[in-house]
Amino acid sequence: MTKTIFPFDSQISYEQRKEAMMQEPRLIWLTGLSGSGKSTLALRLEHYFFFKHFKVFILDGDNMRSGLCSDLGFSEEDRKENLRRVGEVSKLMLDAGLTVICAFISPSGEDRSAIKNIVGEQRFIEVYVNCTVEVCEERDVKGLYAKARKGLIPNFTGVSAPYDPPALPDVEVHTAEETVEESMYKIIKLVEPAISLQ
Ligand code: PPS
Repeated sequence: MTKTIFPFDSQISYEQRKEAMMQEPRLIWLTGLSGSGKSTLALRLEHYFFFKHFKVFILDGDNMRSGLCSDLGFSEEDRKENLRRVGEVSKLMLDAGLTVICAFISPSGEDRSAIKNIVGEQRFIEVYVNCTVEVCEERDVKGLYAKARKGLIPNFTGVSAPYDPPALPDVEVHTAEETVEESMYKIIKLVEPAISLQ
């Protein structure tokens, strides 16, 4: 095939950007069921790191699906494409020097590995937001579980679509047993040294 695409490199190096941003870019990837507490933790982490002067930004399932991914649904293929796009956007944000916090169900281990490959293994921190489907369903903050049980939402994760938990996450939090502060502290303990420039 004839080569027609010629990506170019910026004249600003990655090292120069990190120095200017005064941080090591990392992707904090929160995976877990709907209602497990991903968005709550993402917002609290963003607030914590922002006020510690880190340059941080959140990408969240509902938000991405309202814009860049609004053409996608919840079939296996659409979730894969949703997460591929999120991975590529995250890569650009990391290359720009940011700390990125992603909150996506990301039910497939294969799709999470693909994101790790897109952004680079050393920049990827996997956080498993562990909460049983029973507890998520009791919370049912958005009323989606009730609708899914009635068959009104197809392919609903944990009800009619699978969730494949991470085998070896970098951090695991249990939101049914821990306070938000306890879960945050576990994550911060790992992330803060990783993003601080020595
Ligand atoms: S995925 O699997 O990673 O592509 O999903 P994600 O982009 O994170 O989007 C999850 C949010 O979409 C809403 N929603 C559904 N979730 C799961 N299954 C089905 N079928 C579905 N339909 C809509 C739901 O509000 C999810 O938000 P969270 O914040 O996880 O509750």
